[in-house]
Amino acid sequence: MTNNFENIVVTGASGAIGKAFINNLSKYQGVNKIYAFSRTKQTYYSSKVTSEVINYENENEIEDAAKLSSLKAKINLVLVANGILHNDVVYPEKKLEEISIQKFQEIFYVNTILPSLIAKHFIPCLSKEMAIMGFMSARVGSVSDNKLGGWYAYRSSKAALNMMIKNLSIEVGRRNKKAILVGLHPGTVDSNLSKPFQNNVPAEKLFSPETSVDHLLKVLFNLKLENTGKIYAWDGSEIEP
Ligand SMILES: NC(=O)c1ccc[n+]([C@@H]2O[C@H](COP(=O)([O-])OP(=O)(O)OC[C@H]3O[C@@H](n4cnc5c(N)ncnc54)[C@H](OP(=O)(O)O)[C@@H]3O)[C@@H](O)[C@H]2O)c1
Repeated sequence: MTNNFENIVVTGASGAIGKAFINNLSKYQGVNKIYAFSRTKQTYYSSKVTSEVINYENENEIEDAAKLSSLKAKINLVLVANGILHNDVVYPEKKLEEISIQKFQEIFYVNTILPSLIAKHFIPCLSKEMAIMGFMSARVGSVSDNKLGGWYAYRSSKAALNMMIKNLSIEVGRRNKKAILVGLHPGTVDSNLSKPFQNNVPAEKLFSPETSVDHLLKVLFNLKLENTGKIYAWDGSEIEP
């Protein structure tokens, strides 16, 4: 299956998970090219990887990124690894008084709107022979799995992303019968995103980005057409909406 992933795109390439995807995939012989998009210039050791700087807030740059990545060959694999849970001004809510317009706007923009725009421009550039688009979602975006509450904006943004993945998969099923769109839950992964929330995570449940990506690639390599529109955890189990 990996032999078919000749032309790959990763967005959110500076992130822990994005970078681990790139480093892992660049070792496969069948992989010819990886386009790594990030807001900042990155350095990679493999000559297969091209680092491209992008301003995601300008939709034209997303369109140009899709054109560039499919100039020589259609795309076989797109991994959308962007996401935020907190930043300098935004922190996940513990109680309803902490809900704010700013938090919702920033978190929805990165976690839901941006992946939707990436889908808009990259789906037409996918190979019609075999293509997968994997969006980094999160188990906490599952409505039925929500037992703890809190994290209003993040949970809602991932639930909305999951709806987008399902919704897009329906239209894509008509336009490109060989394309598979899925959401992925990487487990709890040691990264900037999870750093402030790692205290109560048992050591064996805190994955390195490399371990998480090893698991996720096994999931991706085993996908079948009937899996499109669904959300999968790192161990291959399906996460109900
Ligand atoms: N770590 C975990 O435990 C965990 C658990 C469940 C789900 N996830 C999901 O996995 C994905 C990757 O997380 P990670 O742990 O690798 O986090 P990370 O190391 O913080 O990387 C996130 C990446 O998102 C991009 N990003 C951040 N702010 C952005 C903005 N304002 N506009 C556009 N892009 C922005 C950046 O990439 P560029 O600037 O390079 O584009 C950044 O490197 C996220 O969607 C996250 O929700 C992570």
